[in-house]
Amino acid sequence: MEFLTIPEIVKAAIAKLPPTHWHYLSGGADSEATLRRNRAALEAIGFRQRVLRDVSKIDCGGELFGQRWRLPIVLAPIGGLALIDPEGGLAAAKAAETFGILPFTSVMGFPALEVVGANTSVRPVFQLYVRGDRAWIGDVIGRAREAGFRALCLTVDTALYGRRERDLEARFSPASAIDRPEVAHLLGRDGDLRQAAVDWDMLAYIVSISGMPVVLKGVMEADDARRAVDAGVDTIYVSNHGGRQLDYAPATIEVLPEIVEAVKDRAQIILDGGVMRGSDVIKAMALGANAVGLGKLQAYALAAGGATALVRALEILEIEIRTALGLMGITSFAEISSRVLRPLRSIPAA
Ligand code: GLV
Repeated sequence: MEFLTIPEIVKAAIAKLPPTHWHYLSGGADSEATLRRNRAALEAIGFRQRVLRDVSKIDCGGELFGQRWRLPIVLAPIGGLALIDPEGGLAAAKAAETFGILPFTSVMGFPALEVVGANTSVRPVFQLYVRGDRAWIGDVIGRAREAGFRALCLTVDTALYGRRERDLEARFSPASAIDRPEVAHLLGRDGDLRQAAVDWDMLAYIVSISGMPVVLKGVMEADDARRAVDAGVDTIYVSNHGGRQLDYAPATIEVLPEIVEAVKDRAQIILDGGVMRGSDVIKAMALGANAVGLGKLQAYALAAGGATALVRALEILEIEIRTALGLMGITSFAEISSRVLRPLRSIPAA
């Protein structure tokens, strides 16, 4: 039976996943205030309903890295995809290619980046955590370039690993659950310490050797965004790691306008954090994002039914986006700005 709604896909994921895996994927850090806030802040934004405009043709496409995509959506990098699909990151990349959006592939993922590069033609973005010395970094970036990846994404909101209380209480470790020797060596304590030492000098070094556009993921402050762009970063990826790292960080959609204001003419901007609906994509685009990343929803769809269900989730988002844009009187993202939004005051539940 074909999925018709996103909640149906989420229910199927819950039914299929062991509870430990569901809590690992859906949980956040500490009190989960940021996890909830990502959603709450999106839900506090409303749309202006405009009528009597011709919306018989609507273009839901977006542009990123100089290329048109079917939707302004990317698949966020997720290291643990092998927990939920035997093909891991390759399943996600294939779904993105089939549908027509850009995937990110994690250095922590399975299978190896060469396998993803060789079995897709979409040229994903390669996501890097610093898990070794400069020689290791140079080697892995060279491999990504060689394998045809189009850009390099350095994730920087993980200096220390967030305390995921659901996982701690379940005594669950995703690294041991994946049980792949290929990635085990990236997950040790030594790698964690290297990640904690990454600084602006390291960013400058990575930009200097990358030979590709650099995406900086995990930026939440306008000053950091400005400094990153000054250092040669091409794309600012606004993210609080889906509420999984710094608890009480604000929602990504709350900080997006300041970051757009700071760097919009000099960098592309991607946002993730709680995006579960077509309407969420429209809100981020109206506030100045060039694209929106799917993390949890990507994982849930893969759990619900592999690459086929992920393609289906994207089809559903496309239908939701087309419907909402049409009812807002808008025919493409080129027409959109914060003028199409209205803040919503919360109304007590009936
Ligand atoms: C890893 O990046 C995680 O969020 O679990």
